[in-house]
Parts: sequence; C-alpha cells; structure tokens
Amino acid sequence: MPLIIRPLSVSEAEAEAAIPALAALLQEAVADGASVGFLPPLALDAAVAFWRGVCNGVVSGERTLLGAFEGADLVGTVQLVRSAMPNQAHRGDVSKMLVAARAQRRGLGAALLARVEDTARAAGLRLLVLDTVPGHAGERLYQRHGWQRAGEIPGYALDGAGGAFATIFFYKPL
Ligand SMILES: CC(C)(COP(=O)(O)OP(=O)(O)OC[C@H]1O[C@@H](n2cnc3c(N)ncnc32)[C@H](O)[C@@H]1OP(=O)(O)O)[C@@H](O)C(=O)NCCC(=O)NCCS
Repeated sequence: MPLIIRPLSVSEAEAEAAIPALAALLQEAVADGASVGFLPPLALDAAVAFWRGVCNGVVSGERTLLGAFEGADLVGTVQLVRSAMPNQAHRGDVSKMLVAARAQRRGLGAALLARVEDTARAAGLRLLVLDTVPGHAGERLYQRHGWQRAGEIPGYALDGAGGAFATIFFYKPL
C-alpha cells in the first residue's frame, strides 16, 4: 500500500475525523514507554482532548499537523509548531513525531521528518528545534538526518514509574 503524507486541515473537518486514530497512536506510544508529554496509562478522554487542542492550533495557524496514511489507515503523524515570539518568527518546533508500532522500521519516521522539514522551509523558517529521549529510536532518527545535538538535560520528564527521563535538545538550520 503506498504511503501518503499530507497536512490535515481542520477546515476540511479532516483533522477532526482523524482524532480517534491520532488518539490511538498517542495512547500506544505512551503505553510503549515513549516520553511524549503524558504518563501511562493515558486515558482516551485525555488523548482526545490533547488532539482537539492541536486542531485548534491548526485552525489558528500556530501549527501544521501532518498525517501519514496507508490507504485509510493513519500510521504516523508529526507537527510543525511556529514560534509565537516576534524575535523567533524564523524558528519552529517539531513536535509529537509518532509512528504506529505496526508501521515502524520501514522508513516512515524518516519520511515524516523530511516532510516536516520541507514544510518549514516552504513557510520560510530557517531553524528547527526538537527534543527527545536519549537512547530511544528518535535520537538515532534525528542524528541520521543531520540534526545537531545541542545538549542533554537530566531528569527532564517523569517516566511514570518513580523515575525520570533525560531529554536531548536537537536543532537543524534549514
Ligand atoms: C521514533 C519513531 C518516530 C521512528 O519511526 P520509524 O518509522 O520506525 O522510523 P524509521 O523507520 O525511519 O527508522 C527507525 C529504524 O528503522 C530502520 N529502518 C528504516 N527503514 C527500514 C527498512 N526498510 N527495513 C528495516 N529497517 C529500517 C532505520 O534505520 C532505523 O533504525 P535504528 O532505529 O536502529 O537506527 C518511532 O519509533 C516512534 O513513533 N516511537 C514512539 C514515539 C517517539 O518516541 N517519538 C519520538 C519523540 S521525539
């Protein structure tokens, strides 16, 4: 099945329709131990509420939400969030890179990353920033694709088991 990556537009009600699949992706990642902002177990209501907030950000123009589809199946997502500050209008954050476990290790993460970088370039951005957990698949993905490691902060995010994850910040000039 060919993979199609495209922006989800709230005005077409497409992002709204994608919320259940996006919520399932997020729940799966959190249950698998990913550090993506939430602690396990992530309730469906909380996941849906998160994506509704994302949709609002798409409507306001604050962010672009990309979806990766195999046929009708949403198997991955990533967001480009523009900086709200006037002195960082050239900068964006890459956020919530998620690939369904059933679709991992086939280059989908790399394809989403390339597409979000192209989206940022097309919007005139010149610098991207993201953070991820050391030793997880994201760290290798970003290093492989030319992102620069800015540094690591220990104990940055709680892991839900009484400990905490470090976070590495990466940046990429475009
Ligand atoms: C991080 C994440 C997005 C990567 O997605 P992915 O689609 O598996 O990414 P890719 O397939 O491009 O690369 C992953 C691995 O598969 C390998 N790969 C890519 N294409 C492949 C193929 N055709 N056959 C076999 N392996 C392949 C890559 O070399 C890479 O190997 P490595 O991790 O050992 O270095 C995914 O693991 C994920 O969603 N994790 C949970 C959420 C998370 O942590 N997100 C990051 C937050 S910053």
